[in-house]
Amino acid sequence: MYNEKVIKEFTCPKNVGEIQDADGVGKVGNAKCGDIMKMYLKIEGGKITDAKFQTFGCAAAIATSSVATELIKGKTVEEALKLTNKDVVNMLDELPAQKIHCSVLAEEAIKAAIDNYRGKQK
Ligand code: FES
Repeated sequence: MYNEKVIKEFTCPKNVGEIQDADGVGKVGNAKCGDIMKMYLKIEGGKITDAKFQTFGCAAAIATSSVATELIKGKTVEEALKLTNKDVVNMLDELPAQKIHCSVLAEEAIKAAIDNYRGKQK
């Protein structure tokens, strides 16, 4: 069902955990499957210096969380907002059609964390 990249990312995910003093935290879920993704961002001078996640979900949700956090580290907030679920899937080469929504969750979690960060700035 999953290719090697997905399995590797799921079994050895990067950036798992919580950032205690996160500047932005986003929590999203998918009502149909019940999976939940929480994203923590550390942002300095408009740049994402650290990103971590806690995901209670399927293998694809964990793999996409891992890839998404890797992709946004070092990016500006504006650059991170442009990241789509397709970019995440591309990093994994492919996902089964019924697992594409897991990558959407990763995109939404980043956007939710950035929203939270921006809300705090006001
Ligand atoms: Fe729903 Fe993976 S099955 S996030």
